[in-house]
Amino acid sequence: MKNLIVANWKMNPGNQKEAKILFEAIKKGIKNVKTEVVICPPFVYLSLLKGLTLGAQNCSWEEKGAFTGEISALQVRDLKVEYVIIGHSERRNYFNETDIQINKKVKKALSAKLKIILCIGESKEEWESGKKVEVLERQITEGLKGINVKEIRNIIIAYEPVFAIGTGDNCSIDETMSSILFIRKVICKLYNRVVSDNIRVLYGGSVKSDNSALYIKNTGANGLLVGGASLNAEEFIKIVKSVA
Ligand code: PGA
Repeated sequence: MKNLIVANWKMNPGNQKEAKILFEAIKKGIKNVKTEVVICPPFVYLSLLKGLTLGAQNCSWEEKGAFTGEISALQVRDLKVEYVIIGHSERRNYFNETDIQINKKVKKALSAKLKIILCIGESKEEWESGKKVEVLERQITEGLKGINVKEIRNIIIAYEPVFAIGTGDNCSIDETMSSILFIRKVICKLYNRVVSDNIRVLYGGSVKSDNSALYIKNTGANGLLVGGASLNAEEFIKIVKSVA
């Protein structure tokens, strides 16, 4: 399985010019690298950027109509975007997205032929109170409700413990490995062994070029979801190369 490195630019950079400069620098830097890379810029830059695989950071669970401010999965797909991030912890926490809503988004994105990066992960409080596995199992089971064995092929799971996102306090290698094993166990229970062996599981949370290779080598992760470090072309290129 090829490693997959996803850049989540979040609400950055501040204008089109900077977005193009960052994108072109990344494109140039990874030209001869075999690793799969997906860039997820804000919606407004998706149609400006060409030459690398693109992902959106969110989509609506509705198909069309009177939903002011929303963007549909079909509108995203129409821009030749291939991926969509669903259920990022910032969406769950700041915009109160629930597992039920996330499941509806997953279904709409699948019907629009997008590949989904489904984010899951426990908060610090949940981790401290020993609820990690309970939370992960709930997020997976609810998020994937009604998704069949065939559809699951278009889903990637990103394990992102909330305390590790944007903090520099990345999740330890051992903890990440145990979470990824647990995620595969849940997938095996919901589907079967072949699905759980083949589903891609990414790690995300304060990934930098000095820790990226360790996650790939030692945790069973099939790739990385990179936030802050993906806004610096040189650093992001180093990350991509470190796992090649
Ligand atoms: P970070 O963000 O790399 O800045 O920690 C990761 C993410 O939110 O996907």
